[in-house]
Amino acid sequence: EHCFSKSSDGFLQCENVKVQDIMESVERRPFYLYSKPQITRNVEAYKDALQGLNSIIGYAIKANNNLKILEHLRSLGCGAVLVSGNELRLALRAGFDPTKCIFNGNGKLLDDLVLAAQEGVFVNIDSEFDLENIVAASRIAGKKVNVLLRINPDVDPQVHAYVATGNKNSKFGIRNEKLQWFLDAVKAHPDELKLVGAHCHLGSTITKVDIFRDAAVLMVNYIDEIRAQGFEVDYLNIGGGLGIDYYHSGAVLPKPMNLIDTVRELVLSRNLNLIIEPGRSLIANTCCLVNRVTGVKTNGTKNFVVIDGSMAELIRPSLYDAYQHIELVSPPPPNAEVSTFDVVGPVCESADFLGKERELPTPAKGAGLVVHDAGAYCMSMASTYNLKMRPPEYWVEEDGSVAKIRHSETFEDHMRFFDGL
Ligand code: LLP
Repeated sequence: EHCFSKSSDGFLQCENVKVQDIMESVERRPFYLYSKPQITRNVEAYKDALQGLNSIIGYAIKANNNLKILEHLRSLGCGAVLVSGNELRLALRAGFDPTKCIFNGNGKLLDDLVLAAQEGVFVNIDSEFDLENIVAASRIAGKKVNVLLRINPDVDPQVHAYVATGNKNSKFGIRNEKLQWFLDAVKAHPDELKLVGAHCHLGSTITKVDIFRDAAVLMVNYIDEIRAQGFEVDYLNIGGGLGIDYYHSGAVLPKPMNLIDTVRELVLSRNLNLIIEPGRSLIANTCCLVNRVTGVKTNGTKNFVVIDGSMAELIRPSLYDAYQHIELVSPPPPNAEVSTFDVVGPVCESADFLGKERELPTPAKGAGLVVHDAGAYCMSMASTYNLKMRPPEYWVEEDGSVAKIRHSETFEDHMRFFDGL
């Protein structure tokens, strides 16, 4: 079952609580609304899929870094995937076990690597200079670092260019032809580096599991080569990237079970521990951005629904031309006219749209309108452009109660940056 559904009388509900009622009980602002039980269900889907394998579910914190959500994911047994020192600090505050954390990135900073070394998290080697920095960090921290080689397998993920990462001209990872150089460099630093595995991440919004299988075949071959040189590597990290059904078209997309099933035999055949790094597929579908309609207008041949939310709160449509499903939270009056609208925000840019050419009943001023699948890369990419200030977040809990999980940012928060200057 999914957390967002329609009541028999046509109202959008989150875990059987009407979104319209929630709108009336919270601040008058766009807000993110999550289902806590849906987060649990999404983690359970991965846990079921991983039965019989030694594994770490490394949740990619970049997708959504709400502390309450992180604590919940940690309580369900997840580890964390980090791309900055602050994400690592946050993971530690949320109580994640550092030995289930992986520090990734093509431009990791020395200070952050020192923290990672001190805490004992896995670190992925991304380049020659990154390896030098990890060695330096190990010496400063006085600790040997467990490292994985991020190999760029050159498998086309068939996604938007901005979210493809594993192709040969990508800025991420190392090319296979340099593998020997890296193995020699690791061997030359036995006091600083312990090579424990290999990593790849192909890209994001991937909807064909064959792509993961193709990469995993290449990766286990690399692991065979690495082992042949005497390294005891135990971990295969296949990254994140599983897509979700943004279109709500009813199309059958691969689920965690399908993803894990395509790599299961390979992982078992080499007696490996599997690390996965899901972000979107754990958190995207647990949330809507809830907006209010400010008004409706027509210019030329275009009809617009103007809402209070915008590209500041949710930038994916503007940045990637991404589709996120939009609907009204309450049933329209029986005679409402259905038209084609662009759903736009108040921000001073023509790139400020949440949806293009959507069929909607003409909404009244103040009507609730949601943008679905807003749990991943929406709040975490929000800005304060036009001084809109980041929205509050709420979730519906198991018993149907609604709790705030992040305060709204305020004008006063903004003025604090200038205190005493
Ligand atoms: N691991 C690594 C090394 C990554 O770079 C990423 C995402 C993930 C895991 C998690 O991937 P996921 O399971 O969430 O697809 N802002 C874009 C997505 C950028 C993804 C960046 N890397 C968007 O809104 O679509």
